[in-house]
Amino acid sequence: VDKPVIRVGIIGAGFVGSALVQLLIDSSRHTALLDAATGPIELVGVAVRDGAKPRPGVPAGLVTTDAEALSNRQDLDVLVELAGGIEPARTHIESALRHGVSVVTANKALMAESGTALAQLAHEHGADLFYEAAVGGGIPILRALRSSLAGERINRVMGIVNGTTNFILSKMTSEGSDYAVALAEAQALGYAETDPTADVEAYDAAAKVQILSSLAFGTELVGEEISREGITRVRSIDVEFARRAGYVIKLLGVAERVGESGISRRVHPAMVPVEHPLASVHGAMNAVFVEGVRSGPLMWLGQGAGGEPTATAVLGDVLDAVRNRVSGRHDVPFTVDDTLHSVPAGDLSSVFYISIDVLDQPGVLAAVAGVFGSNGVSIQSMEQSGFGDEARLSFLTHLAKTSDVEATVADLARLASVDSIGASIRVIDGGGE
Ligand SMILES: NC(=O)c1ccc[n+]([C@@H]2O[C@H](COP(=O)([O-])OP(=O)(O)OC[C@H]3O[C@@H](n4cnc5c(N)ncnc54)[C@H](OP(=O)(O)O)[C@@H]3O)[C@@H](O)[C@H]2O)c1
Repeated sequence: VDKPVIRVGIIGAGFVGSALVQLLIDSSRHTALLDAATGPIELVGVAVRDGAKPRPGVPAGLVTTDAEALSNRQDLDVLVELAGGIEPARTHIESALRHGVSVVTANKALMAESGTALAQLAHEHGADLFYEAAVGGGIPILRALRSSLAGERINRVMGIVNGTTNFILSKMTSEGSDYAVALAEAQALGYAETDPTADVEAYDAAAKVQILSSLAFGTELVGEEISREGITRVRSIDVEFARRAGYVIKLLGVAERVGESGISRRVHPAMVPVEHPLASVHGAMNAVFVEGVRSGPLMWLGQGAGGEPTATAVLGDVLDAVRNRVSGRHDVPFTVDDTLHSVPAGDLSSVFYISIDVLDQPGVLAAVAGVFGSNGVSIQSMEQSGFGDEARLSFLTHLAKTSDVEATVADLARLASVDSIGASIRVIDGGGE
């Protein structure tokens, strides 16, 4: 029997969209990909913003500037959203889902903000909503959490989920560069945007943590604020201290259980022991480390960005949606566990690294130590180095409550003898924090 033709529309022909167009029209690959359950796939339109831009590899006859019309086509089977941003992407996705059209997207910002509502809308209209490429680009982590680990109780997910910041921190580690130099290099090589805020202030990683958490634990995707600290305050001297102490500084996205019903979701720089698998994730690579009760530690490593790796993950979703469509079914949304509550980052304990520059005067050490003591933060070790009229003090604390460490730093800043305070960086141990 002849299989019906499956009609696919794409919004966006940038890095990912144009790579997907290539994969879809490359006929040898195309035929090889189609298994018995799918049928011929026809690309019916590619919506962009600028109709005049040259687009090598994208058939001119398919290009349209009317994304609204494409997302409202009744004869579409799958709409792929690769434009990014919240609006008009959300409106286009909603239109398609309301027509019962399945949607594939790589849009982490939108999924973190409206994923629960969009998944519900898809379900109500018998359609799929897939977004494998939204976390870790080409790394197949979402389907692994959702399907392969569906029967596992996951305790913690930790990820290096932003290639830009990992590139910058890797440069600081391997070459001793300052943050500003490493950022400029990342920009020159195209790893960082001209406005790097979304990456370096960890908005991008925070959206990915929300998505990972929703699949690992059943937390909602409703745009909740999560604790977020970027890498702009990490200095080369911190990286150097970490190296001497046997650690590497990484920006970690963490989602973990706290007690029976608590979930902590946060992004912050952390000192990772050199022997931890995440410590060897270099450059723009991404990795997700999962700790399951029975499976033990698991890790996925790969290219978190780039047109082709990301488009490959998108195509996997498209083929899944096609297979579902041909067999007349759709996936149900992930289950929301409404017994869970969010634990504020301040309530958690960790070992911290803190470094401060002080005036080299008598009595300074006693004053500084007094501030730690009065906030209940005890010191595990201290290193002092002098330069000119100043001295730098680097501390490792014992396990301390984050809010107590924050209070310590605030009090230290009020001491006349304290010149400047660097980042407070959590120290991760091999098995837990
Ligand atoms: N790049 C990666 O490696 C990567 C990895 C994982 C996930 N993602 C996600 O994938 C999505 C696409 O990323 P990208 O890097 O491919 O972006 P991009 O290169 O900036 O491309 C965006 C495309 O969308 C089009 N577009 C933007 N607004 C539009 C609108 N209102 N109507 C119609 N078309 C519109 C643009 O048109 P013009 O060409 O006319 O400007 C462009 O073709 C984003 O959600 C991103 O977060 C990207």
